[in-house]
Amino acid sequence: MENSKDIEQRLLILKKLSSEAVNLDTYYTLATGERTKRIYLDSTASTLQLKIVHEVLEKYQPYYSNTHSDSHFGAKLSTEEYNWAHRMVLDFVQADPEIYTAFFAGSGATSGLNRIARALAEKNPQRDVVITTVMEHHSNDLPHRKQFQEVVHIPAAMSTNSVGCVNLERLEEALEEYAGRVNYVAITGVSNVTGIINPIKEVAEMAHRHGAFVVIDAAQMAAHLPIQMSGNDNPAQDLDIVVFSGHKIYAPGSPGVVVTRKDLFAGVEPQEIGGGVVEDVAIDRYIITEKFPDREEAGTPNIVGAIGLAASLYALKKVGMDLIAEEECRLITYALDKLKAVDDLVIYGETDCTECQRTGAVSFNLKTLDHALVASALNDYFNIAVRNHCFCAHPYVREMITQTLIEEAEHLSDEELDKLAEMHRGMVRASFGIYSTEAHVDALTEALKYISAHSDYYLEKYEQLPSGNFKHRTFNFDHTKVFTVKGTVDQILDS
Ligand SMILES: Cc1ncc(COP(=O)(O)O)c(C=O)c1O
Repeated sequence: MENSKDIEQRLLILKKLSSEAVNLDTYYTLATGERTKRIYLDSTASTLQLKIVHEVLEKYQPYYSNTHSDSHFGAKLSTEEYNWAHRMVLDFVQADPEIYTAFFAGSGATSGLNRIARALAEKNPQRDVVITTVMEHHSNDLPHRKQFQEVVHIPAAMSTNSVGCVNLERLEEALEEYAGRVNYVAITGVSNVTGIINPIKEVAEMAHRHGAFVVIDAAQMAAHLPIQMSGNDNPAQDLDIVVFSGHKIYAPGSPGVVVTRKDLFAGVEPQEIGGGVVEDVAIDRYIITEKFPDREEAGTPNIVGAIGLAASLYALKKVGMDLIAEEECRLITYALDKLKAVDDLVIYGETDCTECQRTGAVSFNLKTLDHALVASALNDYFNIAVRNHCFCAHPYVREMITQTLIEEAEHLSDEELDKLAEMHRGMVRASFGIYSTEAHVDALTEALKYISAHSDYYLEKYEQLPSGNFKHRTFNFDHTKVFTVKGTVDQILDS
């Protein structure tokens, strides 16, 4: 049983990490001419960088070298620390190193998901169906469509007020319907649109009962919730493969991560080959190493990125993802309560967290304004960075928007409904990280109220471009006055 002193210590570390993200103190000049501190509510796209990651990488710089050698001090140190980064990943997702391996791929989750789809399609060609959900980011949908005969999309369940998590009954039905053909169930742990949390343990158990593997897209889960791949009380709930992105867990510049049961990748030639993955090469043949993770990491790896990621994971582990999840659950509940009180705001997905758990993100629309205009006004007039449109989850976004339009249809004329449909071809998303605060939520809420109450003013200030984006008629953000690579190099070298 943990004592209160330990929890206090963990909270202190969390406070230190969250208050010191390196890019929290960024200032921009707004359309009003004021210069204010930016409020970052775009962590679902990429989180800010923890200072500890920055510091670790700076301290590592003198010793930087290529890996896979112990011929000199730097190579030895880099090899050891790069290996430790793999062990740290396994530890972070509670994966038994005897059974699982972690390898780095590309710069985000997308590369890992493509690798998985190719490898598992090749390993079990007779299992030519993948089951996924309508909630997925395109990166956990299109790679499966490309490699498999059929991809089945399970709908979300209706919760009390709106759409909730994946519909488990429909999943079970699909597993029965495609019995013997399902290679794996690929599902997101947390939606990048609504922040709705999926019951991945139940999904794993169900998939395994039907002889399928389970692949978890943890791109939005890793930074917000604990992940337990192995050692679950019910072993059927253990996860076969988990994928996530370093840039979404406070270590931008780091690689994407795949953690997989080794047997799933054994016996098929790695998808990418070259240096580092072979035992021996002759002019007419080559022998791929059996060793994990080496066989899955052809070429010189992103060593600096992997070390930065390991620093982030270790720091988060010191706090404990259970505590982070609790804190974020409090913040998202606060955000939903605050936003629900904004007139004319439609929030997508179930907003009662006791009915349907959520973390990390809230997507919404002001009924009377285009999503792109709202995002631009939040940025240009309030220095609040959000994202808008469909977040690479078109089917899910479209389904939720259609559902609210159907609800509205009762009260609106055809013309009004058409106008609303045109404006709501996307949503606005506010998303959070460990550095997000209630004050940030308050600022967002007040800004939305103000924009809603002064919609004519903002409509006048902007013109809509053919792309659908909105351009301010008089204010122009010239990024070259803030930062350019060339200007920075010139400034340093020519001064
Ligand atoms: C749920 C989800 N899966 C996959 C991805 C793709 O991740 P990446 O851009 O790191 O490749 C994202 C990115 O936003 C995501 O939110």
